[in-house]
Formats: sequence, structure tokens, C-alpha cells
Amino acid sequence: MKVEDPLKEIKEAHEKHYPNLYSIKDQVIVKARGALIYDAQGNEYLDCVAGHGVMNIGHNHPRVIEAIKKQLENVIMVPPSYPIESRASLLKKLAEITPKSLTQSFLSNSGTEAIEAAIKLASVYNRNIKKPEIIAFKRSFHGRSLGSLSMTFNVKYREPFLSWISPNVKFASYGSIDSVKDLINENTVAIITELVQGEGGVYPVPDVFPKELREVCDQKSILLIDDEIQTGFGRTGKMFACEHYGLEPDIMCMAKGIAGGLPMGATVASEDLWNKLKTGEHYSTFGGNPLVCAAASETIDIIRDENLVQNAEKQGKDLIAHFNNMAENNGNIRGVRGKGLMIGIDYRKPVKERIDEAVKKGVLFLNAGLTVIRLLPPLIINDDQVKRIKEVMEEISY
Ligand SMILES: Cc1ncc(COP(=O)(O)O)c(C=O)c1O
Repeated sequence: MKVEDPLKEIKEAHEKHYPNLYSIKDQVIVKARGALIYDAQGNEYLDCVAGHGVMNIGHNHPRVIEAIKKQLENVIMVPPSYPIESRASLLKKLAEITPKSLTQSFLSNSGTEAIEAAIKLASVYNRNIKKPEIIAFKRSFHGRSLGSLSMTFNVKYREPFLSWISPNVKFASYGSIDSVKDLINENTVAIITELVQGEGGVYPVPDVFPKELREVCDQKSILLIDDEIQTGFGRTGKMFACEHYGLEPDIMCMAKGIAGGLPMGATVASEDLWNKLKTGEHYSTFGGNPLVCAAASETIDIIRDENLVQNAEKQGKDLIAHFNNMAENNGNIRGVRGKGLMIGIDYRKPVKERIDEAVKKGVLFLNAGLTVIRLLPPLIINDDQVKRIKEVMEEISY
């Protein structure tokens, strides 16, 4: 049967058969290369959404495609209990790029799963504590599965599911060590933090806070969990945001930028800590899938070979300085925040229309809450693309 309008068919299938959980865009995307994506009409977009901060190395990196193809021809799937070359290569690299004591990674399929594994690890860290509690922060976002949702602050996400949400999570004020200390008791097993709060509105952590957290955790034998799901893999101008502060967390959670666009989560901790979980107490069928490991192992090499961490730092500084100048003469803007290429511009009014206007000009931006335009572009963006981002941001900001 001849399809009359394939684009119409694609959109209709989404309307009819896809749950109403996403606000579906108008563009049917057919091609993606580097920092650019293209719709079926041939329109080009400079992509500062980058799969919500996933495409750090740019779309369809040829080296990732090669690595996937090579793995594809050999083994697509064996369970996590079979040693394979691509996983071995990735595990070694994760141990290399994270703080020295964090040598073992549990591999899963998303950020929220990386957090779930961290929660379970923290829960068995001291099995004498029968009702373990975790401290998270106001404005935090750690995911939407029920464990990670318990650590996510926003009432909008939590309220319909309150009966499943753990009462054993307490929320402290981000940046206030006194507020953390007030919540610690004999059941506290972990503190979980983002070092730049992303979904909460792009708030970099106050400079002294990571050190204060580390000290409190050490004094009280509490684990410090660093959620690097959005900040990791070069996003903030360091491989991981904890490096800005000389912070060595006990557990790191990562996902998004890890595998060049393929789904993966990783929970990284020391061997001693992982030994607290017994075989079978946690598991993932797809976790550490050979294909995804091949992509992830290549992605880490690309980030290093192409100096993407340095480029994120340089282009991020330039953009933040430019937006700060812009904000000085623009009463619509409340503030500019960010680190590296994780940037938020906070407006006095909702930003949806401004973001829609930018789409028409060929640049895609993301929001963070109602009033923040968030930029998470690929870390490969060049000077011309940065110039274009500045121009369009100026045009939509008045
Ligand atoms: C800091 C942080 N943690 C956890 C998550 C959840 O990750 P995922 O959507 O891959 O489950 C996100 C996703 O945006 C995130 O930004």
C-alpha cells in the first residue's frame, strides 16, 4: 500500500500509540551530524539540547559508528556474567578517569538506574542500620523511578506517587552545611548531591560546599554520593564536576554522555564498598551490553583525543561572559548561571515562547523549570556555532 504522507503517518502514530507523557515536537528528525540535526523538510538546527545533555561528542560520531559496527558483527548480547572485551575496556577506562579509590563500576541502562544502584549500595553499607536514611537537597533531580524519585525534590513529580515514595529521605538546603547537619541522625547512611543542579534550574554548587560535605561525611561515617549524570563526561569543563573542587566522593553515578548516544548508566565505587552487596542482590539483564560498552569505551577516547573537556571550558566561559553582559542591559533576565557548557539563563517570565522562537531561527534550546533557558550543546561546538548561539539568544531575549 502506498503511504500518502509519511510524515503525517509518523506523527499520527505518535499521537495514537505513544502515551501522553512527552510534549511531542513538530519536527520529524531524519538526520543528525556533529552539533546539527535536520528535519524531514531539510531544515537544519544547531542542537543545544543534544538529547538532554547526552551527545557530548556530537551526533553520529564516525568513530562510535565504527566501534558499534565492529561489535555488532561479533556479539550483540551476552549476559553481564560473561567477560567480554568491550566491557573490559570500558571498565578499565572508567577506573582511570574517576578518583583513584573508585575502581569498580556497576553498568546499567540509564541515569535513574545508576541512582537506584547507589541507593541499594548505601542501604547495605552498614547492615546494622535497620532504617537507613539518605539526605538529598532541595531543587534536586535524581530521576523518576521510585527510589530515585524519593531523592527528587520537585513536588510535581512526587505527589501522585507519594504512597511509593520513601519517607527515609530528608531534604537539606543546597549550600547550607548547617541544614545538612540538622538532618543527620544515627540512621543517616548517605548524602546525595549534584554539583551543578540541572533540572532544578542550573545552580552550580557554592565553592566551599563540596569540601564541607566531605568533612561531615568523614566525621560521621556517611557515604557521599555524587550524581554526575548531567555534569559528567566533560560537560562542566572537567571530565567530572567533582574535579573542580578536589572532591573524592564515595559513589559516583553517571549516564547521559557516557556512550555517545546509546543508553547506559554507571555506578562507580570502591571494591570494598561493592563487596557489601552480595551476588544477586542487584542485577541488570541489559546492563553492560557489549554494543553499548563498545560505544562507551570509544566515547571516552574521543573526549580525550579531541580535547573536548578543554573546548567545553573555553566555549562555556565565552558564552557565560557574553550572556552576563547581555543580562546587564536586559531587564527580562534575572540571572545567568553555569559551568562549562551547562548554562542557564533565568528570565523573569516563562521561557516557552522564547524557546519556540529560537526553533524558528534554527537553534534548539531546552528549559529548566518555567523560567530558565538551559543550554547543553555538544562539547564539540566551534567558534562560529558559539557566535550563532549568542546572536539567537540576543534576538529572543527582548
Ligand atoms: C542529575 C540527574 N540525575 C538523574 C537523572 C535521570 O537520568 P535518566 O533520565 O537517564 O534516567 C537525570 C536526568 O536528567 C539527571 O539530570
